[in-house]
Amino acid sequence: MRTLEWEDNRLKLIDQTKLPDELNYVYCDNYQDVIVAIRDMIVRGAPAIGVAAAFGMALADIEDVDLDKAAEEIKAARPTAVNLFWAVDRVLDSENPLEEALKMYEEDRATNRAIGKYGAEVIDEGDTILTHCNAGALACVDYGTALGVIRAAHEQGKGINVICDETRPRGQGASLSVWEMQQENIPVKLIPDVASGFLMSQGKIDKVVIGADRIAKGGVVNKVGSFMVALAAKYHDIPFYVAAPYSTFDNEISIFDTVIEERDGDEVRYYGGARICPEGTEVINPAFDITPKELITGIITEKGIIDPI
Ligand code: MRU
Repeated sequence: MRTLEWEDNRLKLIDQTKLPDELNYVYCDNYQDVIVAIRDMIVRGAPAIGVAAAFGMALADIEDVDLDKAAEEIKAARPTAVNLFWAVDRVLDSENPLEEALKMYEEDRATNRAIGKYGAEVIDEGDTILTHCNAGALACVDYGTALGVIRAAHEQGKGINVICDETRPRGQGASLSVWEMQQENIPVKLIPDVASGFLMSQGKIDKVVIGADRIAKGGVVNKVGSFMVALAAKYHDIPFYVAAPYSTFDNEISIFDTVIEERDGDEVRYYGGARICPEGTEVINPAFDITPKELITGIITEKGIIDPI
């Protein structure tokens, strides 16, 4: 399964807003289509956003649009995942935008397998691994970062079990991570976000592996809820790993200076299409949070496991 593909001079994307019930594809014929797909989360997850943005730049080049202008517009699609900015700048600096995008596509695939290989080394036989949001094949070109570690451990016959946080408000854990695990018959259970601390206290979680949207000085930005999982893991002395490629590192800034995307309040006001609070309720809906480095056991990269920066 490939989350995105370059096909007949256009970008083909799995429509992640329709999963798990329908496996549909969306085609981007121009760079504006790519911006809409990133903004509306048809494609989401840091590495996938990055590679999609690279193809957006390639489309802009084919359309003969000024690449500096296209770069600014694509970068404005979502603010937090640094891969978006990294990918756009890399294509901007290249000789041939399409060749560069295709290179990044292949690199992402190789990177995830390397992350999986290194990550599987810290997974023991029979471990139950908690993950949050979707850092899987659907968040990359394929295979995944956190779910890449899980896939690699499963492929090695380690007999692991997976627990997915549902990941309110958009439910990427429930709709995407559970779906991915089921596609490959990896044993998986879904829990409400609020249950992970209790399950840890019961000895039912051995390790946590999550992805990242940005790794900077002092910690990691990932899907909102990651910080609370990290706090609970620290309390219970459970290893907490972040799996991410070097393209997710932003070495220049403090993690506390990262722009955290604030999303539409209706994502919280409504559940399954029904309003769950009084009409007009004010909402705070940050899409990501910050896990300080003291709570992180290690960062699993394509070059090995390192300490947070
Ligand atoms: O808002 P999303 O769905 O784009 O958020 C995705 C996440 O937070 C992932 O965990 C992160 O991008 C890592 S993906 C390999």
